[in-house]
Amino acid sequence: MSSTQSLYRPGLEGIIAGETAISSIAGGLLYRGYPVEELATRANFEQVAYLLLHGEFPTADELAAFNQRIAAAADLPERVWITLRNLPATTNFMDILRSTCSLTAHFDPEVADNTPGATLRKAERLLAQLACAVGGWERIRRGKNPLPYRADLGFAANVLMMLRGDTPTADEARALDVSLILYAEHEFNASTFTARVVASTLADLHSAITAAIGALKGPLHGGANEQVMAVLTEVASPERAESWIKAALASKRRIMGFGHRVYKAGDPRAKYLKPLCARLATQTGQESLEQMADTIERIVLAEKGLPPNLDWPSARLYHYLRLPIPVYTPLFVASRVTGWSAHVLEQQAHNRLIRPEARYIGPAERQLK
Ligand code: SDX
Repeated sequence: MSSTQSLYRPGLEGIIAGETAISSIAGGLLYRGYPVEELATRANFEQVAYLLLHGEFPTADELAAFNQRIAAAADLPERVWITLRNLPATTNFMDILRSTCSLTAHFDPEVADNTPGATLRKAERLLAQLACAVGGWERIRRGKNPLPYRADLGFAANVLMMLRGDTPTADEARALDVSLILYAEHEFNASTFTARVVASTLADLHSAITAAIGALKGPLHGGANEQVMAVLTEVASPERAESWIKAALASKRRIMGFGHRVYKAGDPRAKYLKPLCARLATQTGQESLEQMADTIERIVLAEKGLPPNLDWPSARLYHYLRLPIPVYTPLFVASRVTGWSAHVLEQQAHNRLIRPEARYIGPAERQLK
């Protein structure tokens, strides 16, 4: 097909760029056919991670073995820790994860093995390692030593413990657990598609995940949840919310946490975090932040027709969990590495090099003088 006949949509909007059996968005978000509201209310992140990576919901024995593999892999090679300790404490957290994925590859004995079995084993190791990198860098940047992953805690509780240094309450661990379930997978979003493009060249998993982390960093994608907290901090009080948001919209400001390329009637994931936000806000005496958020939501919807996406409530949830803002998008990585890895496996299993065409708009042919 010549390029003049090819379909062109800026940003590939509305273009079906491939097939997947991992998740579907149209008609409600499903992971491997399971409605996400069922997974967010009846499963934990470890079960969802296994489902995405292996394709089926785990039996009790499969889950126990999976959890043992995660706990066994939950650390970084010592020379990677040494490298991280030698970086400036002000280094961007997402850059740290991008570097950690790359550095960890050098120590993975199967790094060059792209067989499905090796890729799956690497994906499980990376899930554990990146979680440790999130907790570890938060401690290193504050001049403290990373805390070891504990086999007696679940994944979400471990992430909170490694970040904060204390054992979270059951409510806190479950709140993070649900957010990790909701962040885990989302069809051909920008960072996942990035991973598939890299995998389609037959490059290895670490190369694909490193690229995906880079894509997720952007504020139009994963970086939005950190920007949401900046907005709420700037608004500062429920009394200021209405005037602030009306002025921001009047000045054509893009409000982080709102809008979505695919969801035009609202991101279903956002509503599952809202009751968790309300519960933690009450437990921490921060109901005013919920009031502020509700006012902003109401006005953005009324004036721009834009409902909130997942990043809008997740920022508040992480705030109530006493997590620093730079950790918000890294938590997205700690979860989405499961979806990214599942897409790499799927791309490699039915591969065709991803290479779209471009419409040329440069100068007509010309000669050197
Ligand atoms: C994620 O794709 C995925 O699945 C991603 C994700 C996942 O799980 O992987 O869901 C995660 O990335 C969620 C989105 C997080 N990003 C943000 O919250 C950043 C703010 N949102 C936007 O920048 C925007 O909504 C996008 C980027 C998310 C989607 O934008 P589109 O589809 O490219 O739409 P657009 O930028 O062309 O906007 C259409 C109109 C424009 O108005 P006009 O210029 O036509 O008058 O809507 C306006 C935009 O200005 N608009 C906004 C807005 N989002 C769109 N106006 C104010 N605030 C916003 N947030």
